[in-house]
Amino acid sequence: MTASISIREAGVADVAALSAIGHASFHAAYEKWSEPDDLVAHLEDFFSEVAIHASMRLPGYCYLLALNGDVAVGFTKIREGTQPDEIPVARALELHQVYVMPDQQRFGIGGRLIDAATRYAHEQSAEGVWLSVWEGAPWAVNCYRKYGFEQVGTMDFKLGKATYNDLVMWRPVTAQKSE
Ligand SMILES: CC(C)(COP(=O)(O)OP(=O)(O)OC[C@H]1O[C@@H](n2cnc3c(N)ncnc32)[C@H](O)[C@@H]1OP(=O)(O)O)[C@@H](O)C(=O)NCCC(=O)NCCS
Repeated sequence: MTASISIREAGVADVAALSAIGHASFHAAYEKWSEPDDLVAHLEDFFSEVAIHASMRLPGYCYLLALNGDVAVGFTKIREGTQPDEIPVARALELHQVYVMPDQQRFGIGGRLIDAATRYAHEQSAEGVWLSVWEGAPWAVNCYRKYGFEQVGTMDFKLGKATYNDLVMWRPVTAQKSE
């Protein structure tokens, strides 16, 4: 499966595909855990075409798109921002989103995206990548552990009126690759 997967930087022409993947993947994973209004607001804030287009133009932001043949099936959004104190290196880039289409999951695409993001961070002279992930999302926590992320702390994540406990995890750019 992963042999037919390629990863490239996404551009403005890919905004609709990124939006479709974000909506489908977030909705499938988190619908049953979220208040309907909060879910709709989150989808709009983070996965609408307008929101993605705006993020893409921000300095330090990059979207990497995974293609299966010529079909867009996943993406990760990388950004440089304030990193938590627990990250044990001076500069790590944040994997702010990793999303794979529901029917394409568990074929190694998430791992390919994580590797590509880690390579990107290395090229940007960062020492690692970090992320926060809801502790109640074993599919994601397991995935990050599988690819060498280590938990170093916790942080709050707000979705509407609810506050969730996120794990803070990181992996050095020298981490073992997924393949
Ligand atoms: C997290 C996510 C990106 C992983 O993508 P993926 O393409 O399935 O990842 P890979 O195939 O490379 O890795 C699969 C590993 O992830 C973990 N995993 C994936 N789905 C899982 C599930 N339903 N239950 C338990 N573990 C799961 C396992 O460790 C699995 O390894 P295994 O198949 O050897 O057991 C994908 O599940 C997804 O998009 N989820 C919804 C959105 C989301 O929660 N994103 C993360 C936000 S922080």
